[in-house]
Amino acid sequence: MPVLTWLTKSPAIPVPGILETVSVTYPHGIGYPDMPAHDQLILGDNLAVMSALLPEYEGKIDLIYADPPFFTNRKYPARVGRGEDSRRPQEWRLAEGYPDHWEDIDAYLNMLYPRLSLMHRLLAKTGTLYLHLDWHANAYARLLMDEIFGADRLLNEIVWVYHGPSPIRRAFNRKHDTILVYTKGKDYTFNVDTIRQPYDPTTLKTFASSPKAGFGKIPNLERGKVPEDWWYFPVTARLHNQRTGYPTQKPEALLERIILASSNSDELVADFFCGSGTTAGMASRLGRRYLASDVNWRAIHTTRSRLVELSAKPFKLSMERASQIPLTRLPASIVHLDQNSLSIEAPYLENLDYWEVDPAWDGRVFHSVSQAARPRKNKPIRDKITLPANTYAVGSTKIAIRLVKISGEEQEIVLGGGEK
Ligand SMILES: C[S@@+](CC[C@H](N)C(=O)[O-])C[C@H]1O[C@@H](n2cnc3c(N)ncnc32)[C@H](O)[C@@H]1O
Repeated sequence: MPVLTWLTKSPAIPVPGILETVSVTYPHGIGYPDMPAHDQLILGDNLAVMSALLPEYEGKIDLIYADPPFFTNRKYPARVGRGEDSRRPQEWRLAEGYPDHWEDIDAYLNMLYPRLSLMHRLLAKTGTLYLHLDWHANAYARLLMDEIFGADRLLNEIVWVYHGPSPIRRAFNRKHDTILVYTKGKDYTFNVDTIRQPYDPTTLKTFASSPKAGFGKIPNLERGKVPEDWWYFPVTARLHNQRTGYPTQKPEALLERIILASSNSDELVADFFCGSGTTAGMASRLGRRYLASDVNWRAIHTTRSRLVELSAKPFKLSMERASQIPLTRLPASIVHLDQNSLSIEAPYLENLDYWEVDPAWDGRVFHSVSQAARPRKNKPIRDKITLPANTYAVGSTKIAIRLVKISGEEQEIVLGGGEK
């Protein structure tokens, strides 16, 4: 069997990081304080993160979706403005997103190879890995996947087609991505009946007028058909109610099909290049458990806000020790407490993206019980947060408030217990 080699290729050796839980988020108070948080979001380089997860999760993850940088040698800025005209990119308010820059293909493969190997180790015997790339690197990745999984474990090469504007004038418009699907073993989960699609109206018409149209085979027209290995879903840029502003965000419908096909309720779905959190959000909505990580704080922050919106169960936020984010302390005097409602003075709401409250701050792990995020539409963020009933007994505990600015700066205010 042909194997891909390059000068600096080296065996995939795990490099475990140290993961520390920094917060537990109860979306809008759901599950506080007793419901255990089985889901986890992790900030850190996924080589260190996956290596650290091996002792607990080796052979335990049912589905992994991997959407790494594509080797495009571009920078992907994040859109942080609201209510802008999509047709006028020169007016968009942008911030740093994530880079996809490599010295050469060897450097890129040195990133990808050990990570795919770790994903293979983390997958359950019946598990499946979906690797999402495009023409820049998918030929190399296919050989790596053949080496790691075995060439006979390729289940599908899925082509996701979409359309949109492009400056290309000397080639055909490049409007598809490739998703390589490999299973760990011969027995794997594939829930065919959850992903069937209605037959095309022309097919229905043909069978209605001539029962012989299927050359003796009459498909179950009511049950629907198994989708082909090419999928059309519009890109997220066209889906205004899904758009988070995080670059290269994938459509929810794409992840929905993948999760329904290749995992069952309560099973564990992971995405170690999670970006805006599409996989984690859809996994949660479809009743799966999830692990999601990214090296970029904006990705983790976007995912957290999205989970607050999409998820109805608590999740932990952990950080690889090397990626801790510094917190600036703000004075307690900028917060006003009225019964169980907290408000923040107007100047501190400017350029604020998210804020949350822990009504019984233990000084170690932040238990976020109420959250406010900047709305997708051009409206101001809420200046007041009301704590859910029974989460707060006046004067008995310290209250901690955390704020995240659009720039990424994180701030903290502590009330009570003698704090000023
Ligand atoms: C193509 S984007 C993922 C987009 C995501 N599927 C979504 O729907 O939003 C790739 C992500 O990989 C992350 N990334 C790149 N290198 C990484 C690494 N070594 N460890 C963890 N995340 C990484 C980037 O920060 C970026 O968010």
